[in-house]
Amino acid sequence: MGGMEEKFKAISAADFFYRNREIAGFDNPVRSTYTICRELLENSMDACEAGGYLPDIYMRLRYVEGGALEIKVEDNGKGVPRRYVKRAFGQVLFGSKYTLRQTRGIFGLGGKMAVLYGQITTNSPVHVTSSTGGMEKYSYKIMVDIERNEPLTKQEVVERNHGQWHGTVVKLKFQGDYARARPKIVDYLRHVAIIEPYAQLTFVDPDGVLYFFRRKAGYMPRPPLEVLPHPQGVDVETVRRLAERFGQGSLIDFLVENFHRVGRRIALKFLRKARLDPDMDVVELLRREDLIPKLVKAMNEFDDWLPPDPSCLSPIGKELLEIGIKKELKPEFVAVVQRKPSAYSGHPFIVEVAIAFGGGVPTSSQGEVNLYRYANKIPLLYDVHNDVSMKVIKKVKWWRYKINPESMPIAFFVHVCSTKIPYKTVGKEYIADRPEVEYEIEWGLKEAARRLKTYLARKRREESLKRRRAA
Ligand SMILES: Nc1ncnc2c1ncn2[C@@H]1O[C@H](COP(=O)(O)OP(=O)(O)O)[C@@H](O)[C@H]1O
Ligand SMILES: [Mg+2]
Repeated sequence: MGGMEEKFKAISAADFFYRNREIAGFDNPVRSTYTICRELLENSMDACEAGGYLPDIYMRLRYVEGGALEIKVEDNGKGVPRRYVKRAFGQVLFGSKYTLRQTRGIFGLGGKMAVLYGQITTNSPVHVTSSTGGMEKYSYKIMVDIERNEPLTKQEVVERNHGQWHGTVVKLKFQGDYARARPKIVDYLRHVAIIEPYAQLTFVDPDGVLYFFRRKAGYMPRPPLEVLPHPQGVDVETVRRLAERFGQGSLIDFLVENFHRVGRRIALKFLRKARLDPDMDVVELLRREDLIPKLVKAMNEFDDWLPPDPSCLSPIGKELLEIGIKKELKPEFVAVVQRKPSAYSGHPFIVEVAIAFGGGVPTSSQGEVNLYRYANKIPLLYDVHNDVSMKVIKKVKWWRYKINPESMPIAFFVHVCSTKIPYKTVGKEYIADRPEVEYEIEWGLKEAARRLKTYLARKRREESLKRRRAA
C-alpha cells in the first residue's frame, strides 16, 4: 500500500481572492484601509461619470465598537439597478464593466474585495442603499458566501424614492489602521481632485477632520463609447466566442460585423492576403481545429487595418487638467500636452502629460521627483520606481531644457488612458513599460519641458532687465 491519496478540489472565485487577497491590494491593515477607500471611491466616480452626473461624493470613516473602522461612501451616480445589487456587492467577478470602454473598475472585484475583507475581519455585512432615480429606493445587507461565491442577503427593504434621488450609499465595517493609512488616503484624494476638477469630494476622517475638495469645473470630459475588438489585438478565444455567437454566415460578413473599423474593402484585402475564402461559412471555420488559429495569426500580422478609434477613450483634456493642477498646486507656470491617440497590440491609448513649476509646487526632497501618475483617471500611488513614467523621467536629459527635477520646484503629471491599461498586477498600481506607451510619455514630457524652458528663459531676461534698470 502506498501513502494517502492526495485530495483534489476546486475552489470558487471568491475563495481564490480570499486566499490571495494581497494581489488585490489587501496585504495588511494599512494597505487594506487605503484600498477600501480607493475601491469604493472609484466605483462612485465610475457611476457618476457613466450617468453623466458631476460627481458629488461624500466619504466618512469612523471608529466603531471593537476598534474596527466603519466606512460610508455616498454618491450621486446612476445607482445600481435593483435586480443586480446583490450580485454587484456579493459575488466576486460580477460587474458591469466587462466591455471595451474605458472605466476605472475592470475585473468586477474591487468593491467585493472591500466587502469580503470587512466580512472576514468583523463578521458583518455590507449595507447598500441605491436608486436609479425611479420610484423605488432599496436597501440591502449582504454578505458573501465565500465557498460558493454567492451573495447572502441578510436584509432587504424597499421604500418610496422621494425626489427622484439617484445614487448609491455603501457602508461597511473592517479592521484597519487609519493612523498609518492617512497620508496615503489624503494623497490619493488630492490626486483625484487634480485629475477630476469637476468632482466635489468631502472626506470626514475618524478624528473628525474634514477634507474638502471644491469643484472648479462645471463640465466633464466626453464619456467613453463602447467599441468592438480591434483585429490586431484579438486572440483565438475571443474569435472563437464571436464565431459561435455569429453562427451561419460568410467569413467576410463575420469580420465586418464583429471587429472594430473593418469595412468590406479592407476585409477582402485581408482575406486575399491570408488566403482565406471570403465566402467560407463561419460554421466551417468552427468545425476545423486549425482554421481559427490561422485566421487570428493573420489578423494580428496584417498591417493595413485602420488604427483604433479613440472614441472609446475619455481623456481629461488640456483645459481640465490645467484647471486641476492650478487648483491644487497653485504653480507659477504649467504646460499641459495631450498626445495624439496611439495603439499597442490593437488597444487604443492616449497620453496626457504636464509639468508644473514654482508657486505652490514643492522642491522635491532627497533626490526624489514629484510625479503624479494616473491610469484611466485612477491615481497610482505605489511602486513608483517600477513605473514606465519614472523610467522615462530618469532617461530624459533634463539639462538640455535647463531644468533639474531634483533641485527645482517641479512636478510631473502623466495620465495614460486606454481600454486596456498594461498594469502589472490586479492591484492596479503601476504601468508596465510598453514601448509605444513609453514613446508617447517621453515626447509629451519633452514638449512640456520645451515650453517650461522658454518660460524660464523669458523670466530670466525680464529679471536681468529689471536689475539693470534698478542699478
Ligand atoms: N457606487 C456605485 N454606483 C453604481 N454601481 C456600482 C457602485 N459600486 C459598484 N457598482 C456596480 O457593482 C459592480 C461591481 O463593482 P466592483 O466589485 O467594484 O467591480 P468593478 O468596479 O471592477 O466592476 C460594478 O461593475 C457596478 O456595476
Ligand atoms: Mg470597482
